[in-house]
Amino acid sequence: MEPLPEVTDPRVIDGRKIAQAIEANVKNEVGRFIKEHGIKPALATILVGEHPPSKLYVKLKHWACKRVDIISEDHKFPQEAKQEEIIELIETLNRRPEIHGILVQLPLPKHIDEREVMMRIAPQKDVDGFNPLNMGKMLIGREGFVPCTPKGIVRALEEFNIDPQGMEVVVVGHSNVVGKPAAIMLLNRNATVKVCHVFTKDLKSHTKEADILIVATGVRGLIKGDMVKEGVIVFDVGITWFDEKVYGDVDFDDVLPKVKLISPVPGGVGPMTIAILMEHTLMAARLQVGD
Ligand code: GUN
Repeated sequence: MEPLPEVTDPRVIDGRKIAQAIEANVKNEVGRFIKEHGIKPALATILVGEHPPSKLYVKLKHWACKRVDIISEDHKFPQEAKQEEIIELIETLNRRPEIHGILVQLPLPKHIDEREVMMRIAPQKDVDGFNPLNMGKMLIGREGFVPCTPKGIVRALEEFNIDPQGMEVVVVGHSNVVGKPAAIMLLNRNATVKVCHVFTKDLKSHTKEADILIVATGVRGLIKGDMVKEGVIVFDVGITWFDEKVYGDVDFDDVLPKVKLISPVPGGVGPMTIAILMEHTLMAARLQVGD
């Protein structure tokens, strides 16, 4: 991948810079953890199939582990792997005390029930926050392990001293990975939240009202300049690969003149998501040693 240019526009959220600060803190804390407990935090990843972007994301997660001194264990299955085999591995990892975090890279092949797989990850090792117990806790406002991407968005808002209380938040996309948890986490912070999705009629009439717009649809360039209001804060969570390049869900150049802040693709929420995953792995290790 080509290195990204420096972010110099104050309206553009530099996700890499925020991620670096989070990782620096995690690395420090990991050092302390190792001194105190004589063990390293460890993350096990599970990748099923040959989906090139998923392979890349898992690789990026392993590199991040290396940067912050977390052990990472790489488990791979072929595309045609049976659900029972994956669950068997998860149960083994659940029982191994030296493994603190378990991450199953999504999407899984169609013949596998993702929800069933997520349910099998021990809640205290569920660093992605996809287990229904952790999702349920988030819903009642007890945020522990929550999905990493929305947590990165919340962290970025804090970084810019933006309190979402009372703001109009519009989330486009209702996935379990981003859309739904983003809506819940902003609701937990007393924003007025609306969730739009593929069946929403007249998307623009909703997005135009947003003070904060979070877009996670996977539809390249879905959001144009005329669909947002002046002074909006935009988080672009979309990733579409085309001709070996990545594109977001937001038509960046068209929307930029109207924004107060915008997270770009690449270099926005992606690095922040991985940094939060590192934080969660340390959190899981602490939880399991009884810290
Ligand atoms: N696929 C897309 N985003 C994510 C994520 O945050 N975690 C996992 N495990 N898979 C994903």
